[in-house]
Amino acid sequence: MTRTGYNGRFRYSTMSRFYLTTAIDYVNNRPHLGTAYEKIAADVIARYHRLAGDDVRFVMGNDEHSQNVFRRSTEAGLDPLAYCDRMEGEFRTVWAGLNISFDDFIRTTQPRHKAAVQAMVQHAFASGDIYEGLYEGWYCVSCEEFKPDKGLIDGQCPVHRTTPDWIKEKNYFFRLSKYRDALLEHYATHQDFVAPEPRRNEMLRLLEGGLEDISVSRAGQAWGIPLPFAPENVVYVWYDALINYAAAVGYGTDPALFDQWWAQTGEPRRQVVHLVGKDITRFHCVVWPAMLMSAGLPLPTQIFGHGWVLFKGEKMSKSLGTVVDPLDAVEKFGPDPLRLFLSKEIVFGNDGDFSWDRFEEKYNADLANNLGNLVSRVTAMADRYRQGHLRATPAAPHLAAAGLEAATRWKQAFDDLSIDVACAVVFQFVDRINEYIATEAPWKLAKAAAGGAGDNAALDAVLWNATEALRVAAVMLSPVMPAACDEIRRRVGDAPTGAQLLWAQDGQWRESGERFVVSGAALWPRLEPKETPVSEEIKPEVAVPAESQPPASQWPLESRISIEDFMKVDLRVAKILTAERVPNSKKLVKLTIDLGSEQRTLVAGIAESYEADALVGRTVAIVANLKPAKLMGIESNGMILAASPDGGKPMLVAFDQAPAPGTRIR
Ligand code: MSP
Repeated sequence: MTRTGYNGRFRYSTMSRFYLTTAIDYVNNRPHLGTAYEKIAADVIARYHRLAGDDVRFVMGNDEHSQNVFRRSTEAGLDPLAYCDRMEGEFRTVWAGLNISFDDFIRTTQPRHKAAVQAMVQHAFASGDIYEGLYEGWYCVSCEEFKPDKGLIDGQCPVHRTTPDWIKEKNYFFRLSKYRDALLEHYATHQDFVAPEPRRNEMLRLLEGGLEDISVSRAGQAWGIPLPFAPENVVYVWYDALINYAAAVGYGTDPALFDQWWAQTGEPRRQVVHLVGKDITRFHCVVWPAMLMSAGLPLPTQIFGHGWVLFKGEKMSKSLGTVVDPLDAVEKFGPDPLRLFLSKEIVFGNDGDFSWDRFEEKYNADLANNLGNLVSRVTAMADRYRQGHLRATPAAPHLAAAGLEAATRWKQAFDDLSIDVACAVVFQFVDRINEYIATEAPWKLAKAAAGGAGDNAALDAVLWNATEALRVAAVMLSPVMPAACDEIRRRVGDAPTGAQLLWAQDGQWRESGERFVVSGAALWPRLEPKETPVSEEIKPEVAVPAESQPPASQWPLESRISIEDFMKVDLRVAKILTAERVPNSKKLVKLTIDLGSEQRTLVAGIAESYEADALVGRTVAIVANLKPAKLMGIESNGMILAASPDGGKPMLVAFDQAPAPGTRIR
């Protein structure tokens, strides 16, 4: 089935059945921002596929048979299962707080999971892939992993920085080595099987180096799933946990359901995608596929190993004391700003650092000052000039074309799992909407119309197109910020009905009908800047002194910035409305500027070059998305561009004509 969308110009490929899983979490601690990052990313991907019209099954769950879980339950004085029940509640609370829309939640203590594990283990035993042997070596309980000597640093586990246990046990082994060639063959014929590229290369190197059989049972433990053919042993926790992906869709209990989601033949096309952290790719990209081969089952379509969220450069972990609670951000801002930050600011697949300062900075820049401000301005104008009631007009060609171009790039980015790029594309479209408003200046049209000199139809068209563009932007951003985008749609007169949004219809630019726009309180109130003690001598309002930088022609290639880096700087045309010297300062002047649709206060270090009065009415270039700073007690919102000759006085950047305030400079 092929559907068309976006006025018929944008075609979707065949609808898929999309089965998406995350790693299942150990329940010895509550989720932290790192484990939450994976679930948020998966949720964004699942919501995108639902929006695209795919039949989605998104599964998460808890990994309960680890020794740490058992220990924690003993410390809590609880039976392990009772402890896991309690932790399930805690996990679900966090996932609900973050608005994670999983379709199913599997626990490894559930009967369906036990049945699947026993079926797969029995199959491997019967086919000779599991045999009895002796294991002697290191075991890290926190990793739940056997560790070769070469995997330790100074005798310690490099992940947990603890000394592993030395164990000597009679174990059952899985013939992993037997599957090396078949795995290499699969990697060669399925280039996208492991992503992103560095993970694939790492796994290929590992496979090329040869595989050893692995122990898949533990002796002398009661907490776990008994081996069906030797019940005095339990299944090794990783072998047990990996099977959850098949168990959740009926392996060993519901063959029809399993076929529906796992079979790789027939229509509709099935995609099985596992999203896991980069630390556990070996289990997912080598051990799990070999287990599936042994069971005669198809392999997943893709395993994506995302990076880590770091806090102050360290992996987030309780034992390292670097844990951030995601609910702290949710309580203050709701789930969406955090979802946006993690999706947009971390290149998906790479590591990324989290800090509260940066989070708040991006909140102000992207939400309070940009998207939220745009929604407020557009809805306030619709309210003021048309009492909120708008009738459809034809599409504004440039704005609709910008929407179409954004939609194409947005879809490509999501299909490539580049969720950070998909977010950036939507915000570039938001910039286009801001430019449209600045250029069309609806307040001028309204003034002219009121004076009898203007054209009411032109104002109608601007208001309709601006709300329409915002509506489409909200549909595109809805996988990332579902609740906020519902609210944006409500405000621009497209009240959500509760039905699943479908890009093929909701992504179309609308040129008929009417809408009732609702204005309201700021969606994201601006966070007040922390008082920054900036001395006048630092001159933050003038660019970095030229002498601290190499001459333009000598910038080393590796430290040059990309066009994307440059585009992060929001340069705008502004007109100076008022100017006054800052008392007790030689250099500073306080300005009010017109940015097209808003006015701001800005403090600039140009008083030695320009008389305040002479500045009024000048058109200048400013950096509009700079973090606010306090200078001599005055909050400055932006920076004026000026040339700073060595030892000389600043000279304002000027234009040969005066572009409209708010025009973007690139
Ligand atoms: N129980 C195993 C997974 C079994 S899947 C068959 C496990 N659990 S975990 O609780 O330690 O981690 C769950 C997921 O969170 C893993 O994918 C892990 O990589 C991820 N993360 C844990 N800390 C993280 C960060 N700091 N940043 C990003 N992801 C992180 O491993």
